[in-house]
Order: sequence, then C-alpha cells, then structure tokens
Amino acid sequence: MAEPLRIGLLGFGNIGTGLIESLEANRALLEARCGRPLAVRRIADIDIETPRPVEVDRSILTTDARSVVRDPQIDVIVELIGGIEPARGFVELALREGKHVVTANKALLAAHGPELLALARDRHVRLFFEAAVGGGIPVIRTLEDCLNGNRIERIEAILNGTCNYILTQMLEEDMSFEAALADAQRLGYAEPDPTADIESIDAANKIAVLASLAFGFDVRYEDVWRVGITQLTLQDLRSAITEGYVVKQRAVAELDAEGRLWVCVRPALLWRFHPLASVSGVLNGLMIRATPLGALFLSGPGAGRAATSSAVLSDLLAIARLRPGAPLEPPFLDVPVGRKPLLSPGPEADGYWLRILTDGNTEAVADIADALVSNRVAIERITESLWEQDHSGATHVVEVFTAQAAEEDIRRAAHILDDADWSPPESTPLVLPRVD
Ligand code: HSE
Repeated sequence: MAEPLRIGLLGFGNIGTGLIESLEANRALLEARCGRPLAVRRIADIDIETPRPVEVDRSILTTDARSVVRDPQIDVIVELIGGIEPARGFVELALREGKHVVTANKALLAAHGPELLALARDRHVRLFFEAAVGGGIPVIRTLEDCLNGNRIERIEAILNGTCNYILTQMLEEDMSFEAALADAQRLGYAEPDPTADIESIDAANKIAVLASLAFGFDVRYEDVWRVGITQLTLQDLRSAITEGYVVKQRAVAELDAEGRLWVCVRPALLWRFHPLASVSGVLNGLMIRATPLGALFLSGPGAGRAATSSAVLSDLLAIARLRPGAPLEPPFLDVPVGRKPLLSPGPEADGYWLRILTDGNTEAVADIADALVSNRVAIERITESLWEQDHSGATHVVEVFTAQAAEEDIRRAAHILDDADWSPPESTPLVLPRVD
C-alpha cells in the first residue's frame, strides 16, 4: 500500500472522539477507497485526562496543539476546536507549514475564510471544510464541483440543527422553548454556548460561507442580517400551523436582477408545501435555485458527531487521493475580498405575519389597521383572539396577514404600535416574513 496520510487532530471533544470512532469503524473500507492508510499520528486537546469513549494510544495525546501543527511527520491537520481563536492561529500556521487543513469551523471561515483560502492557494495546499455547513449534507462540494456549470441565483436553507430541533420539539411534544433547548444540548447538537444557535449566529456564519462560495461576494458574519428565534412562543408556532404555515429559522442568500446580493437569517413562516417546511428535527435542508439546473433540494443530518464525521472523513479521503506533486486545481469558486452584499432584512417576502399582544382594549384592532394602512401596508386578514399562556392566564392577541409590502413600512407601523397605550410593557410586535 502507498504511504499513509499522517493526520494530526486538534480537538478531542464530542466531535473529535466521534471522528475517531467513525474512522475505526470503517477503516478498511475507507483505506481501500483512497488507497492509503489513514494514520492518526497525534491528537491535541486541553484536557487529555478525562476518559473518552474511544480507545487511543495515550502516547499520541498532547496538550500542545502547536507542536502537532509544526510536526514535520504530519501531512494534514484536522481542526475541530471551534471558535475563532486559537483555531485561526493553528490553521494559519498549518497552512504556512505546507500542511493541508480540514476544518468544521464555520465561525472561523465566516470571519477569515477568504484570507485562509488565499494562503492555502499560495502554499499549494488545500483547505477543506465540508463539515462547516449543513453538517453531513454534501453542499460545499456540490456547489464547487457538481453545480459549477450553473449560475446560482438563490440559496434558501435551514442551517442550524439545534434551532430546527427546538422548533420541531416545541410543536410535536408541546414543549417550552427552554425544555426543547435543554434536550438539544443533552443530545450534543447545540454549540457550547447556545446563544450562537438561538440568536442565529451559527446559521449566519454558515450562510456567509455559502454565499461567498456561490456568488463570489465577500460575505462575512457581520454582513448577514440576523434575527434569533428567542421571541417565538409555542402559541406562535401553533397559530402558524392552523394557518397552513410552519415557522422555521430560514437562511437566504439571493442575487437580484440588479446584481445585488441579499443575505439574512431570521425566523419565517413557510407554506406547508414548501420543501423546507418538511425538514424537521435536527435535519438541515437547502434549496438551491440555479440556471440551467432549476431547483435542487438537499436534506440530511445537520449537527452532531455522526454528521460531522461523515463530512470530515470525506475531506480526508479527498486529500488522501491528491497525487503528490500534481498541481492543485484552483478552486472554481473564488472569493474576492471587498465585494460586499447589502446589509438588509432580506429579499422581498410574499407578505408578512404580525403578532401583536394587547391588553384587550377594543380600539387596538382599529389602531393596528390604521398604522399599517397609513404606512402603505395592505392587510389581507386581521383577527383578534385569546391565547392561553402557560402561567400567565389568557392574553389578547391580534394577528395580521399583510400583502406584499416593503419591510421598512411594516417596521415603521410596528414601531408606532409598540408605543400604543394598550401595548403591554415588554411586549414587542413580532414581524415574520411569509413564504407562500
Ligand atoms: N450547533 C450547530 C447546529 C452544530 O445545531 O446546527 C452544527 O454546526
């Protein structure tokens, strides 16, 4: 057999141990596929004492990640530390040292991706990151290879397994937001700090990476318009269902006819026959609209050890198959620095759904209708009802379905309504786009 691919692993937590487990479970098959032994030579973690669910030779464990990155006996660094620092420093050093890098780190890529890709090109090595977006869904290589005969027009996606799991569990199990989040953490889907999931930071990182690759814009995390899912209640989700919609955390990157790119992540109402409406639990899903292809729908496990291992192993096999000395093909999808998207709430929606709490004042419906109409927002339907809340008794709620409108007009109206006498303190109108 050929020379082994010598692997250095940074990060031996949940995902790192999952990777070693999956590699050992299928070693013979994977090595036959790439024609080389896959040798994990060293593993670095800040904690090498806590027992892990996989057996590894203790002599390959170290707390000194830098020594692994600098080790001349290593060909490829697998970075599973997560977060920006110190991961960025290690990845940069590895590339400078002429090592290939495989990473699952979307935050790092959404902050420094273009520079790291340029460095990899410069040093004639590869930086692979299939696991960074969509978990086990092969979307990066689909964009780079399989769709490279297309012009991509829109990516619409569910990219955070934790949020999708929370929203699904709340509805299916009649659960509070907090209980569903605790479940997601127990199952290992959530980021160490779940703020990144529920405030849509994680999904913003992921759509930034996809948008950069697919559209050739320089899209970083801070260029993504982002709204979290923490305002949503079980009643909101139920009400949407009775109207034929499912609430999802939806990420969108869309190139309009004028060549402007819109990138956002926010909760939205999806019509129940929309393909992404059926993506439930920890699954992720993507609809890619491209010419000449048309629409492509991908769905699969978006978080957790198995999904990440699947993607990282495929990157490792791709590196193992590179012929030594052969020129590295330049990445088809280049990421120019400085070509920026619009920072805006996203492309035009089919309409909006507003949920506004009131104190039961009989003038509220008329005030809401006035505020919307005087801001040029046409109303399709307006209803008032009583929602039972878990602990606080019944709440008066007005729901509005609007026609297509400019979001800034809706927000202006919502702002006026927020100050109304009948608006309970600490309740802000909820404004969600509708996708029919
Ligand atoms: N916390 C992330 C998610 C992990 O739930 O999707 C995978 O990136």
